[in-house]
Amino acid sequence: MSINIEHNVSMRMYNTFGIDVTARYFTVANTLEDIRAVLSEDIYRSENPLILGGGSNVLFTKDIERPVLLNRLKGIDLVGEDNEYFYVKAQAGENWHQFVLHCIKNELAGIENLSLIPGNVGASPMQNIGAYGVEIKDVFHSLEAFHVKDHVVKEFNATECSFGYRESVFKNKEKDHWIILNVTFRLRKRPIFKTDYGAIQEELDKMKLEKMTIKAISQAVIAIRTSKLPDPKKLGNAGSFFKNPVVSYDVINEIKMTHPQVPMYPIDEETAKVPAGWLIEQAGWKGKKLGTHGVHDKQALVLVNHGGATGREVYDLSSAIIADIQSKFNITLEREVNIL
Ligand code: FAD
Ligand code: EPU
Repeated sequence: MSINIEHNVSMRMYNTFGIDVTARYFTVANTLEDIRAVLSEDIYRSENPLILGGGSNVLFTKDIERPVLLNRLKGIDLVGEDNEYFYVKAQAGENWHQFVLHCIKNELAGIENLSLIPGNVGASPMQNIGAYGVEIKDVFHSLEAFHVKDHVVKEFNATECSFGYRESVFKNKEKDHWIILNVTFRLRKRPIFKTDYGAIQEELDKMKLEKMTIKAISQAVIAIRTSKLPDPKKLGNAGSFFKNPVVSYDVINEIKMTHPQVPMYPIDEETAKVPAGWLIEQAGWKGKKLGTHGVHDKQALVLVNHGGATGREVYDLSSAIIADIQSKFNITLEREVNIL
């Protein structure tokens, strides 16, 4: 079977930052057969391909010499059930938010708090996407992935994925080795509503509901998200650019000397998470505009492309922020976005 490999393709439409770099080789896979076929081509065999979904968690800093493979595998299937759960398999190329809406419509509970996260199902395990008190590890059953060199399909359970905060084995030890083909989720027949994330309850109160539903939670999350996160169709961005750092109480006590109100979320007896958005705002970066790019004015954790920015400019801005937060708060911020 032959497959169409395009040459020198602009990637501007394939990343939510809207960065215009060129991919030397580019192909779209709609089926597992397409993946097998393209990975048998010399160009795709010689170097690990870059697998892309919605391009909403990448920053392109230079032209892409690695062959690019856009994963567009489609399909959503009910694959099992027991007393408590339905097991739903979604192919990697399904849009994440459309999948969430499909689940809400069919009363499959568990991912409503993850409404409106851009990107595709296939990337959701990569950094164990999370928002408003839920991470995909909470609803994950298994995934199937294709090995780029051995061409075997392997099933991974949750333990094998080593999920952590914005982490998985696919971002670390197994980076670039696997193409995620599909993910099977374990979704509740009877919902357990997760409204403990402060802003959700406030939003639900405004809605004056007679009965709590997963649809209401989804709508509350959508309302909160649209009030502070930029819509990539209007303003290029990749969501949170940095992770929220986990730091020791010694470091927090030091910050308290000058900022008694520092927000924090305890992890254990020794450490707590400090919101990076707060640190960046306190350091004076929120809303800062450097011509083509800058820091979002409603959420300091989000770097934006105002139009025409290069990935290198955005990257350099992130380095300046890291250096400033290090010197002002003695905290090393880590990038969340995949730098390419
Ligand atoms: P891409 O950007 O295409 O890829 C991301 C990484 O995964 C790359 O390294 C890529 O090589 C790899 N990859 C993609 N697909 C596959 C595959 N099938 N097999 C193997 N590797 C693959 N994230 C959160 O966790 N929580 C949020 O609340 C959140 N909010 C966001 C809000 C905005 C406005 C934006 C723009 C982004 C936000 N994100 C959030 C980040 C992003 O949406 C998620 O990380 C999402 O899962 C990325 O999906 P994608 O398909 O766009 O991945
Ligand atoms: N804050 C500020 N100034 C800001 C932004 C935030 O002071 O400009 C402080 C406030 O104290 C606020 C706190 O930070 O209460 C938390 O802010 P927010 O609720 O907006 O969440 P976040 O910690 O900035 C994280 C995730 C988001 C996710 C939200 C909701 C990370 C890196 N980011 O953001 O995920 O949607 O929580 O759960 O963990 C993403 O990963 O791309 C992403 C958007």
